Amino acid sequence: MQNINTLADFDFIGKKVLVRVDLNVPVLHGKIVDTARIERIIPTIEYLVEQKAKVILISHFGRPKGKHDPSLSLAPIVDALNDFLPKKNPVKFSVDCQGISASTAVDQLKDGQIILLENLRFYPGEKANDIDFTKELASLGDIYINDTFSCSHRSHASITGLPNMLPSGIGLLFQEELENIEASLTSPDKPFAAIVGGSKVSTKLTLLENLVEKTDLLVIGGGMANTFLKAQGVSVGKSLCENDLVDTAKVIMAKALKHKCKIILPRDAIVAEKLENPEHCEVVDIHEVPEDKMILDLGPLTVSSIIEELQNCKTIVWNGPLGAFEFRPFNVATESVARAVSGLTRKNVLISIAGGGDVVAALKHSGLRESFTYLSTAGGAFLEWLEGKVSPGIKSLQDNYTDKEKLKAS
Ligand code: 3PG
Ligand code: MG
Repeated sequence: MQNINTLADFDFIGKKVLVRVDLNVPVLHGKIVDTARIERIIPTIEYLVEQKAKVILISHFGRPKGKHDPSLSLAPIVDALNDFLPKKNPVKFSVDCQGISASTAVDQLKDGQIILLENLRFYPGEKANDIDFTKELASLGDIYINDTFSCSHRSHASITGLPNMLPSGIGLLFQEELENIEASLTSPDKPFAAIVGGSKVSTKLTLLENLVEKTDLLVIGGGMANTFLKAQGVSVGKSLCENDLVDTAKVIMAKALKHKCKIILPRDAIVAEKLENPEHCEVVDIHEVPEDKMILDLGPLTVSSIIEELQNCKTIVWNGPLGAFEFRPFNVATESVARAVSGLTRKNVLISIAGGGDVVAALKHSGLRESFTYLSTAGGAFLEWLEGKVSPGIKSLQDNYTDKEKLKAS
């Protein structure tokens, strides 16, 4: 890894190590829906425990807007962490991430013990990258390890601030993410395809603009496809559609034409009156979406044409589900395309990289997680990486790179 310190560069014995992790796991009705982000930080925790460090886990959860919000406490995550760690060394919890209670709890740690501090975003200083808040956090540790590529696009105190104050490096998950994503996507084998879905239309339109320059094929699904359909004069009924972005969609389509990127949009769709009423869903041609219905998944014709196109590709990057996959039967397009991608990957004809909580959850749900080349735990950070942006988290770690020999001597 160029100009970033990794775990092997440090002597951890007896050191208080602040480990920034991403415990922003999906929760539905109080239950963790997908534990991938928890499972994948375990190797770093175990490494540090073995090295006899005092492990201080710090994370955000949700977007509490700088105020204490009990519904966004990290306390319930402790049990989930313990599910993946040896019973003899349970994770402790501090009800605050700064101040006297945090420092007292940290001071009581013995070598090899682990503590999780309460949600960093309960303080406005986290998002504001406030220097005093960063100092408070830094005072709790001797070394800072960032193990969240998935938050590296945020210029927050725990991401960009701490490397300026403590010897810093990346954990095993962060390292794995960088190595895999970099190896496969810096100069991808062509034809290179991107599958982009999900409902966050406005955030992803900029990404799409960048992707049409880099990819040979761009599949657009999920809610965001509706804006593109509208730009083509297709009526999308009651579907989610960002009318103010229709012109942007036209610009993207023109750009795709110029860069010889083929865009695939829905040709048919599964429509229903509402999500909760799946028994009344039907397949319609895309030009026949009823006024009182909404598009909730791609139709079978579209799915077949996507799968056919993907047969010729060598690299695929995927972010965002193609339909309302959490609700059956609107999971069909996402799962069918995922099965095809996974088959091609297993045959070694394709490198497949997927990122973002939704897609990873969909792949897990359909038992296809193992057959992709690489699954990133990152959503937004993955997208920004694809856009070619240098993430502020990585930059801060690079700016504070320290020669190995000096680190060991310190
Ligand atoms: C994510 O889930 O994308 C990361 O945890 C970052 O969260 P954020 O988008 O609220 O900054
Ligand atoms: Mg996000």
